[in-house]
Amino acid sequence: MKLADKAILNTHSNRELSFDADRSRDVVRQFYSKAAEEPQKELCCPTSYPTEDVSHIPQEVIDRFYGCGSPISIANVKEGETVVDLGSGAGIDCFIVAKKVGPSGKVIGVDMTDRMLNIASESSSIVANNLGYDVVDFRKGFLEEIPVDSKSVDLVTSNCVINLSPDKKKVFSEMWRILKDNGRIVISDIVSEVEIPPHILTNDRLLGECIAGALTEEQFFSYLEQAGFYGLQILKKLYWKEVDNHRFFSLTLRGYKFEKRAGCVYIGQRAIYNGPFKAVTDDEGHLFPRCEAVEVCTDTAEKLSKPPYAGLFIITDPTKEAPENYSCCNDNGSCC
Ligand SMILES: C[S@@+](CC[C@H](N)C(=O)[O-])C[C@H]1O[C@@H](n2cnc3c(N)ncnc32)[C@H](O)[C@@H]1O
Repeated sequence: MKLADKAILNTHSNRELSFDADRSRDVVRQFYSKAAEEPQKELCCPTSYPTEDVSHIPQEVIDRFYGCGSPISIANVKEGETVVDLGSGAGIDCFIVAKKVGPSGKVIGVDMTDRMLNIASESSSIVANNLGYDVVDFRKGFLEEIPVDSKSVDLVTSNCVINLSPDKKKVFSEMWRILKDNGRIVISDIVSEVEIPPHILTNDRLLGECIAGALTEEQFFSYLEQAGFYGLQILKKLYWKEVDNHRFFSLTLRGYKFEKRAGCVYIGQRAIYNGPFKAVTDDEGHLFPRCEAVEVCTDTAEKLSKPPYAGLFIITDPTKEAPENYSCCNDNGSCC
């Protein structure tokens, strides 16, 4: 094939792809415009937040909670953090986070559906009144082009939204872009037990209901790894429902961003894994047998001393032969 033909073919398929993405977003937008106008009880997974987390939030927002997990409850949100919630809907997760980050924090909700954004923005002043401070900002935009500066965010959350995106890989790379180094994601979403068959995949109603666009758990993890996330962990998994003999689950997971330094070198550091497993392997394939001092570069040493690994390893001082005050294994090789 000539180069020119290839270019035409590429342009053609790119156009088709963007047409499909636009169509898919239109279907989802219409679906959630309706769900903003009139609460849809059957859309909600059996999940809820504790009363004390939502006591400052207007009822019309709570009635439009369409999440499939409670990521905010397990995201360990800290005071002063900057948090972005993707597909913020009527704003429930943003308002819960606002209470947790306090007046020195910042919360940005991103959604593409005007009617959802209107309810969220109108409720914002009520929430600010109840809390005594205003830290929430709702922005109109796509998850595939998040209207937030690069490297400006501590935590990205999302509740039952990624399955709705026509370009999930782009969403994950956008999450990576806006996160600061060592930032984290905590996401709840629907996953399918097996790959979705074409008759479900092309069903618009099931797309809106967070079924047709669901990834398998394996795909979800693989896409996140491809975007660069590490330390991936399932925090919660619940059975949701069966559609046409296919089982769907609600999954809440966490992952971290770490940017490799250009000057990563070996300066004599070693990592000693404390157990309880006999050995563990990190995302880059380094093997750490329990209680053995393994040579690590500066990047790996830094990674292993931060969440989610903090406390599992002892990182030795490169200027000393053996770690000080270190007791891990006893004589028969088991760890204390
Ligand atoms: C299932 S609702 C969840 C809303 C909210 N997270 C909650 O827990 O109530 C999905 C939301 O994501 C938004 N959404 C879906 N796809 C989107 C996209 N590609 N870009 C921006 N927003 C999107 C919809 O407008 C809708 O408000």
